[in-house]
Amino acid sequence: MNHDQLQQSAREHLLLHFTRHASAYAAEHDLLVLERGEGPYVFDTQGRRYIDALSSLFCAQIGYSYGEEMVSAVADQLPRLAFNTNWGTAHPPSIELAQRLAELMPGDLNHVFFTCGGSEAVEAAWKIVREHFDAIGQPQRRKAIARDIAYHGVTLGALAFTGVAPMKEAFGPPPIDVTHVSNTNAFRAPDGDDPEAFCRRLLGEVRDAIAAAGPDEVALIIAEPVQNAGGCLIAPPGYWEGLRAIADECGALLMADEVICGFGRLGEWLGIEREGVVPDLASVAKGLTSAYAPMGAVLVSDRVAEPLYEPGVLLRHGITFGGHPLAATIALRNLEIFERDGVLENVRRHEAHLEERLQTLRSLPIVGDVRGRGFFWAMELVKGASNERFDKPERDRLLRGFLPGRLLEAGLIARPDDRGDSVLQIAPPLVSDAAVLDEIVDRLHDVLADSGRFMDMVGEPVAAA
Ligand SMILES: Cc1ncc(COP(=O)(O)O)c(C=O)c1O
Repeated sequence: MNHDQLQQSAREHLLLHFTRHASAYAAEHDLLVLERGEGPYVFDTQGRRYIDALSSLFCAQIGYSYGEEMVSAVADQLPRLAFNTNWGTAHPPSIELAQRLAELMPGDLNHVFFTCGGSEAVEAAWKIVREHFDAIGQPQRRKAIARDIAYHGVTLGALAFTGVAPMKEAFGPPPIDVTHVSNTNAFRAPDGDDPEAFCRRLLGEVRDAIAAAGPDEVALIIAEPVQNAGGCLIAPPGYWEGLRAIADECGALLMADEVICGFGRLGEWLGIEREGVVPDLASVAKGLTSAYAPMGAVLVSDRVAEPLYEPGVLLRHGITFGGHPLAATIALRNLEIFERDGVLENVRRHEAHLEERLQTLRSLPIVGDVRGRGFFWAMELVKGASNERFDKPERDRLLRGFLPGRLLEAGLIARPDDRGDSVLQIAPPLVSDAAVLDEIVDRLHDVLADSGRFMDMVGEPVAAA
């Protein structure tokens, strides 16, 4: 199909995820249809090139130039055994990948349950947690603690952990009893400029939530090392050690949701390694294959997995395609590429430079805060020196009206978001060099400067389509 046919056909047949269809398929503009990638760049069906400063939604860690290598990896596997499950049987790629992950992951996260993506991983983790407590004679542990605005996925179980109310309300009462506590957004917190006091207050809130839920009824504390929704919220020093201690005190398990932070986004295999804490479980997806195939996994510690190996204990959870041989083969090759091409090292090498360059954006009145870690950053967008928040009509004008088109015009894919406060986020491919990172920041500067001018102009609010 040519460009026009694709546009027409998409309008007629393709339902888009998390999309206002009336707006995405509006006659005044084309839908962005990407057909090719190269390094950190993607190209649309009219040949326009964009820097993918979002790594296809935090997935494309190694960028887009490893297709041939991936083809050669699956060329052997596909004719040999295209598929077998991990339901009571297995195949070499899933076993080899599980072993490799056990070797690479921190601590004793030595057991791997494969899924097809992040929501499935979060949900499978919950089932494993529940099976663990049933098996050790604590079946009453059915509650969890998660954080406000955090996104942990959309299947109904995972959605229970997600703390974004508008995404949940329509779908009825959550099947898991989850208490949401404050996240680690320091920017507007009254004690945000005093990390010790901030940390103490946040951990106090977790303790209070556990006391209210009943300490022997809480099964899980789940959090991301750097929380995505809300805009790259980093934890104050001591926060994760505090979560670890609280979980241990009350006998609950601690889980890092690493769907975004894992596989190099923060310069380590798991983002949590930067906090010096080993969780009991971790959910991963996206970067596990650098999105050359869909795959997720739950990584489980020895202690959590142990009861599952007891005679007669049945793990009551399974997903047909979890651990698919082709996805596992691609994941193995992805991990090889990470090591061979120094992907983690590239992030570590460039993090300070990227941060320094991004911090210069604070000179723009529309940028109130710049926060993040590794190759994962957010600029919080504000009304000027007072750091006032944009109201809903203003957010519609800026985040849904102006920015999407202006970013594309600048040849840049980045993410305007207001699940929490208004932010513009980037997460470049982890193979990006200094020149690409500089180009991203230069383009961001132009786009944000124009955004400030746009918001200063008098105009009628655009309605959210
Ligand atoms: C932290 C986190 N957990 C879970 C998910 C759900 O992953 P998926 O979209 O692969 O189901 C996401 C998706 O972005 C995520 O960011």
